[in-house]
Order: sequence, then C-alpha cells, then structure tokens
Amino acid sequence: MACPVHELAAVEPSCQRTLVSPGAPDEGVTLPPRALGRKDGATTADAIERFEDLGEIDRGGTASVRLMFDRQLKRTVAAKRLRDDLQGNEELMKKLAREVQIAAQLQHPNIVAVHDLAFDARGYPYILMQHVRGSRLDVVLREVHDGQLDDDVLKYLVTLALLVCDAVVYAHDCGIVHGDIKPANILVAGEEQLFVADWGLAMSYRRSPAEPHDVASEHFPFGTPAYMAPEQASGRVDAIDPRTDVYGIGGVLYHMLTGFSPHEATDSSRALELARKGHVRPPGEVAIWKDLPAGLVAVTLKALAPNPGDRHQSVRELRDELRKTCGEHLPPPTWRFTRGNCVVRCHQEVHDLLMLVEGTCLEIATDDTQGYRLRRLNPGTLIGRDALLSPSRAKTTVIAMEDVVVRVVSREEISRELQRCPWLAPLVRGDSSESVI
Ligand SMILES: Nc1ncnc2c1ncn2[C@@H]1O[C@H](COP(=O)(O)OP(=O)(O)O)[C@@H](O)[C@H]1O
Ligand SMILES: [Mg+2]
Repeated sequence: MACPVHELAAVEPSCQRTLVSPGAPDEGVTLPPRALGRKDGATTADAIERFEDLGEIDRGGTASVRLMFDRQLKRTVAAKRLRDDLQGNEELMKKLAREVQIAAQLQHPNIVAVHDLAFDARGYPYILMQHVRGSRLDVVLREVHDGQLDDDVLKYLVTLALLVCDAVVYAHDCGIVHGDIKPANILVAGEEQLFVADWGLAMSYRRSPAEPHDVASEHFPFGTPAYMAPEQASGRVDAIDPRTDVYGIGGVLYHMLTGFSPHEATDSSRALELARKGHVRPPGEVAIWKDLPAGLVAVTLKALAPNPGDRHQSVRELRDELRKTCGEHLPPPTWRFTRGNCVVRCHQEVHDLLMLVEGTCLEIATDDTQGYRLRRLNPGTLIGRDALLSPSRAKTTVIAMEDVVVRVVSREEISRELQRCPWLAPLVRGDSSESVI
C-alpha cells in the first residue's frame, strides 16, 4: 500500500503534546556542534548529495527560502535557512530549530507541511518543507486592488480569509499562537487553496503560571510592526494569546479591504508606535475602493480592537462572524488534502463534522488486542460524527489515499439547519425514542 501507514499511525497525538516554543535560549532545543557553524563538525553528506539547489524562491526578515530538488524522492521541496548575512548567528539558528519543531507538530491542509531539519556543507541548519507553488497574499492583493471590488472579488477574499482562520483555529487547538500573521506569511496556491507559513515566532500559550515564559523579553518587540498587536508591540509577553492572532487576521482583512497594512507608515519605528497605540485609520478613509461592505469593515475593526478584551475572543468566533456577515457570498467550506496527508489524526480535537466529497481515504484504528484495523472510506462518508454534539477527540487516524476534498460542516451550520427543519433534530441527535412504529 502506498500510504506510509506504519509511520502515520504510530505518531503521537500532536495536540496533546507539550510543545517547545521560540525564544527560550536553550529550552527543548539542542543543536549538534555542526549546526553552530563549526567546520570541525560532521556535516550531513547524505543531505548535501540528495538535494540540488535550484535557487532562491523568496526571502523574509531573517530567512532565505530556496527551491531544492530531492533526487531521492524526485520532487521539489522548499528549504528555509538564515540569510547569508545572518548565518552563524547562534540565537537565530536556535530560533530556526524551534520553528521546525513547532511547525512539524502542525498537520493541516492550510499549513505548510514541514519535512525535516537538515544541515548544509558548512553545517548551517535549514528547514525542509513542502514547496508551495503559488504567490504571497500581499502580491495577490496588489493585483486584486488593481481591479474593482465586486461580489466575485469579495467572495474570493473572504474565502481566503476563512482558510487562514481554519489554519489558525487548528494551531490554537494545538496550543500554538502564530504571532506573525500577515499577508507575506500566507501563500496562495489556487482559488481555494492557501497555506499559512513562517512559524518562526510561534509559541505555546497554554502555560501553567509556574512555568517561565518561553519567550525572552529581550526579544521584544518581535514580529512585524505594520501588523503587530499592541500587546506584542509593547512587549507584554504574558498578554500574548490567541487574541494576538485575532489581531493579525484583522490586519490581513484590513489589507484585503484597503490595500494597506493597519499600521502603514514610512518606517518601522513609526509603524511600531502606531502598533503600540493600536492606532488604525478607518478603512473607508484609506481604501481606493469605494463603498466597502459595512459588515466586513465592522468585523475587521473589531478584530483590530487595541484592547484584546474588545476583540473576538477566539479565531473561531472571528471565523463564525465572518461567515455570518458574508455568508451569501460564500461557497460551502471545504478542505483539500493531497495524497498521503492526514485528514484527521487520532486524539486530535475535532470541532466540525467532515464529509468526504471526493477521493478515498484510509482509516486506521489501533486496537490493543488486534493491532491496526484498516478501513477504506469512500465519498459520502462522515468523519468525526461525535463532533456533531460537542468537540471531541478523534478515535482514529484518517489519511488521504489520493487527492481528496472534504466538506466541513460546523456545529453552528447544523444547528442553523435544524432550526429551519425542527423535525430533523431528534433524528440527528438520536433521541427519537418516542417513535411508535
Ligand atoms: N514552503 C514554501 N514554499 C514556497 N515559498 C515559501 C515557502 N515558505 C516560505 N516561502 C517564501 O519565502 C518567504 C520568506 O519565508 P518566511 O518563512 O516568511 O521567512 P522569514 O522568517 O524570514 O520571514 C515567504 O514570504 C514566502 O514568499
Ligand atoms: Mg516571514
């Protein structure tokens, strides 16, 4: 069988694990001597032989991302390493190692899949990951803003924003805050396909009060001032939580509506000052487009409230409000998985019911006495039925055997439908014991 069953079924449930986070100098991350750039350390010769460097794809604040051809698996991958001028910086190399550890825990159709951490001939580390063939959202938005805002454009933008929400909701369920949500960290690969990248500033937020914070305060302010939440901009480490990403997604929505970042400024210190104050100009004053949809503007400004208590309290809440506000413009929510990817992982928290629409999957259940039980799932199969009533943990792992499309049915959608059709409720909940025949 083509699927790596033994590997995928044996992995620990990622969402239950305590994750290391960026920032703590040595916490959870030990780099081998070679990773510190020492010429005397052994290098991973296999990796050097295996990957052919095809040139730079793009670069960010600290990293250069290069296209590599994997000679062994005959596919292209993306390799993220520090920019040449920053190579050898021990702190940044450790940050890269922390990034790979966090990103490797996250498996979601809208999150860039991480393959491995490898080392180049000089012993410098780089992250190997899925190569996304697409464009950065900021580049896409530049083109979109050259045209008019009509219903199709609005539908497209909100569909993309909802996919970002899906990815971030999942990360939050795993206890991870992204910390740098902005258009340049979002890769658009098609009409309805998008990946959240760059988990370099991600951190776990479910700490007990006794645990030291895993982000050293001397790293502040970190992130991108043009999109940064006030608590992040002013270095209030303890105040960073999922609502910080609500602000980040608010910034993405603001950029979608106006073509500019929420703290647009000529230099980054001015942007940082605006971010500290949470000063955001009304979208209507900034946008080239006239007649912005009032509902979407209101959702955006709520997400960008300076005080976290005034924002949506979770990305899930923001996503629901977006859907409610722009519902008539939207297609039903679907996720796409490529062959071999995990649709649901055993023990993962499941909030929505999933219906397999296209393609087949393999369900793997582990059983103390019988070992693995495998079942083929065909289109029409419901995945995560228990989520119908309340969030629950998946009991099995489901892997895409080919490219598959899954329709996501939220509990809110189900209760909306049940209100429209009350006689269905007892059937769905399974409490139709009053039946007389
Ligand atoms: N997996 C990928 N596939 C294709 N392009 C990528 C991938 N990851 C990153 N990039 C590109 O490289 C740029 C820099 O990567 P990023 O991880 O954001 O680096 P930094 O941490 O320096 O900001 C991104 O803005 C994006 O354009
Ligand atoms: Mg980046």
